[in-house]
Amino acid sequence: MEPGTRIESALDRAVAHAEAPGAPPLLADAMRYAIFPGGHRIRPRLCLSVALACGDDDPVGADSAAAAIELLHCASLVHDDLPCFDDAPMRRQKQTVHVAFGTPIAVLTGDALIVLAFETLARGAWRHPRRLSRLVSLLGRAAGSPSGIAAGQAWESEAHVDLSAYQQAKTGALFAAATVLGAAAAGADAEPWRRLGEALGEAYQVADDLRDVACRQEEIGKPAGRDATLGRPNAAALLGTGGALDRLKRLTREAIAAVPDCPGAARLTTEIEAQARLFLPASLRAVSA
Ligand code: IPE
Ligand code: IPE
Ligand code: MG
Ligand code: MG
Repeated sequence: MEPGTRIESALDRAVAHAEAPGAPPLLADAMRYAIFPGGHRIRPRLCLSVALACGDDDPVGADSAAAAIELLHCASLVHDDLPCFDDAPMRRQKQTVHVAFGTPIAVLTGDALIVLAFETLARGAWRHPRRLSRLVSLLGRAAGSPSGIAAGQAWESEAHVDLSAYQQAKTGALFAAATVLGAAAAGADAEPWRRLGEALGEAYQVADDLRDVACRQEEIGKPAGRDATLGRPNAAALLGTGGALDRLKRLTREAIAAVPDCPGAARLTTEIEAQARLFLPASLRAVSA
């Protein structure tokens, strides 16, 4: 099955559990709304690409890892858009969850999606219990504190923030989860895969910062210029467009250099190069060429 189909059907199976008879209808609807239709799905694709490069000997386990990572990502977006964080009205070209369903349901949607991520992993990766315990601990590291997405968002409440530490936790952690869980789900040693995910995640966040500064809302499907309004650290604002583009290129080169030796390394490198070219929207690709 093609990776995109594997991801969408694993996500559909996961959310179907939250829609079982007896579920509060608004919460069930909001969970599906937060997941479908998706955005770039870049993290679960990366997870499956790494699992495939490592032999993909338990595809159901790898699918559940990929789905778990995307569920955490969707949860982080629902919480990030809330009035107490970025107060965003639009995401993925539609109303944000709190605008469509109200803030209480949006808070609970994010919470329930985080829990569903772990449940999905446990349900899918049971065939190899030792792998499963490793997968759960790796996913937890990416979600919480001191270095996961909760920590990343928490840095916004601190007086002094280091741009790299902030982006590493806010975005790098889930990209690193994608590579290490992909490897662990296929029975490979996970840690050698971490640097690839971290560097790609940081590159992706720099691209997102450039989008925030240089694109219009219609192009990116979410509000633009938000970081300046909210006083958030932004690589393009701090380094200028040229500086941010240079940083993006350097991080992408670092990511590619970090691909560990494995049977599928050559193919994976080609895939990463192709994906990284798409990080920037068309209007900025011309500038960076
Ligand atoms: C948005 O991530 C948040 C960042 C960390 C940049 P994506 O750009 O992957 O969001 P979707 O999933 O495509 O909507
Ligand atoms: C969102 O970061 C990242 C997380 C929620 C962890 P941003 O606030 O920078 O991303 P967008 O611009 O809203 O997608
Ligand atoms: Mg934010
Ligand atoms: Mg935001």
